[in-house]
Amino acid sequence: MTDPSGQIDHILIEDRKFPPPAEFTKRAVVSTQAQYDEMYAKARDDRDGFWKAEANEHLHWFEPFGDVCQWNAPHAKWFLGGKTNASYNCLDRNIDAGRGDKLAIVWEGEPGDTRTLTYTELRSEVAKCAAALTQIGISAGDVVSIYMPMTPELPIAMLACARIGAIHSVIFAGFSAESIADRNNDASAKMVITADGLYRRGKVLPLKETVDEALAKSPTVEHCLVLQRTGTENVPMTEGRDVWWHDVVDSQSDDFPAVPLDSETPLFILYTSGSTGKPKGILHTTAGYNLWAKRTFDWVFDHREDDIYWCTADCGWITGHSYIVYGPLSAGATCLMYEGAPNHPAEDRFWDLVEKYKVTILYTAPTAVRAFIKWGDEHVEKHDLSSLRLLGSVGEGINPEAWIWYHKMIGGERCPIVDTWWQTETGGIMMSPLPGITATIPGSCTTPLPGIVPAIVDEAGNVVDAQHGGMLCIAEPWPGMLRGIYGDEQRFVEQYWSMVPGKYLTGDNARKDEHGFYWIMGRIDDVINVSGHRLSTIEVESALVSHDAVCEAAVVGRHDDLKGQAIAAFVTIHNREPNEELRKELKLHVRKQIGALAQPDDIRFAATLPKTRSGKIMRRLLRDVASGREVVGDTSTLEDLSVLAKLGDDEA
Ligand code: WTA
Repeated sequence: MTDPSGQIDHILIEDRKFPPPAEFTKRAVVSTQAQYDEMYAKARDDRDGFWKAEANEHLHWFEPFGDVCQWNAPHAKWFLGGKTNASYNCLDRNIDAGRGDKLAIVWEGEPGDTRTLTYTELRSEVAKCAAALTQIGISAGDVVSIYMPMTPELPIAMLACARIGAIHSVIFAGFSAESIADRNNDASAKMVITADGLYRRGKVLPLKETVDEALAKSPTVEHCLVLQRTGTENVPMTEGRDVWWHDVVDSQSDDFPAVPLDSETPLFILYTSGSTGKPKGILHTTAGYNLWAKRTFDWVFDHREDDIYWCTADCGWITGHSYIVYGPLSAGATCLMYEGAPNHPAEDRFWDLVEKYKVTILYTAPTAVRAFIKWGDEHVEKHDLSSLRLLGSVGEGINPEAWIWYHKMIGGERCPIVDTWWQTETGGIMMSPLPGITATIPGSCTTPLPGIVPAIVDEAGNVVDAQHGGMLCIAEPWPGMLRGIYGDEQRFVEQYWSMVPGKYLTGDNARKDEHGFYWIMGRIDDVINVSGHRLSTIEVESALVSHDAVCEAAVVGRHDDLKGQAIAAFVTIHNREPNEELRKELKLHVRKQIGALAQPDDIRFAATLPKTRSGKIMRRLLRDVASGREVVGDTSTLEDLSVLAKLGDDEA
């Protein structure tokens, strides 16, 4: 099995298959394999023809576009010369189509307060905010940082920027003052929109204070708009710079037409961490991104007019941009939005919300699913989840055992699961089951969406043999692709386009199986080389998680004189004591599941694993711990690694 060319060995066997229920297929947006095959072939063989028709049907054009795609690798331009507006597509277009009185946002705050906004009401709020931004002095091309709690004003602020052609840069409201200042400075932000405070697990976090600290180091920022959310007293307001939302937005006229913008007008910058160095400002532009977010939403979430759709992400991540704001709103969906923590006031908050609002589509992350498993089934069993018809997963690979739990406990064995693979850079979902037609296999993101042409290559850029893993690239441009790293052309070219010329390098490894299904195998940097065998972290982790006692597992390589690298596993457990006996049992379990080669050399029990703020396990930090010299702790205690997460403050 050893392969000198840098291919990755595949060791995990998963053959459980879940075809879509016939009832689901009957009404699905994509309901036959032939329909997908035809779309896929058309997008591949006649790219311009396919996307021309899609763009004309699904976006509003103030002025028609000429050429569909100008591809000068690595630079793409889409829908050249056309004029559109993402805020118009999300709001006015739906109102014109008769959805004015339909609920766009159904919101619940952490303390339990609620609000609803119809499409007409949402447009009024967006228009007022756009008018206020204009009055304050923001115009097309200016960068506006948004550092806000998950209140309706967060998407309102994003859409107000889009309405006037300002570029939003949403910063997750858990980042430090230092991180805000870095982002403000990198993008030369002219304004920050924030709030007095934020509710988190019943406490109030002082957002404005943090922003003030950041603004002391952000010389380009001239204005700060502050929403009153928590009613915090004595919020410091700097004369001439800071204004309250209720003073300047509420009194504006709600008639502020969307500005016709060139297709390639920057829509937003979103910072994401690189494996090294400072965060990258991923740039997306108007028409291509908007179309990609909308169409991927239609296809993957099988949207129907009466759905109540809930994406549990924060707007501070790409998932929130594409699948709370631009995708579902362009599609005229009703979106539930929740402000707070999943375990406040209790561990059943999500299921309480699903029951109360009769959520039909739920889109969440594996890190959340693993937390629910750990918290216990009783929190789920208390609630009626029969409204759900479709479940989604994003952000990391979902280990097959977590998938099965999600399917049984949340989906009542009737809801298809869409395991969606994509990235901040890709703008929207790239590979995913289509819930009406794909027989899913736990752990696989299955097949590419129309317009996506994956290629799996070895280090020399040659396509790898079937069944082996290699680096996942995308061979053709697609409308939602990133247009650059803001202000850093060199890094853009080096990071994504140099190693495999002409193809977009995703940074992930993947394998294609005999059915043509894709399996993400983890980040390129995370591959472990044991005695010449290149193994994927996800496969070993999934084997560990398939043991009853294991909730979460993170596997990393550490130096080993004999084997090159040894496998170190960090696990969190439930219902068992962390002792030598369990350690042995887990090693044997992996050996039995996937083979002797993959048996971990070290197993360390942890209370929690260090995570990025978006919930991904930080393997890089664990690598440092694994290779450190310190003795493995007392076998009867759990290591507390949560402190490590703080070291990676800037990881997105
Ligand atoms: C990982 C999130 C396996 C992957 C939308 C990718 C996944 C990175 C999946 C992007 C999935 C995301 N299966 N891995 N379904 N979805 N990833 O930019 O490594 O926050 O490259 O975008 O998350 O993370 P980002």
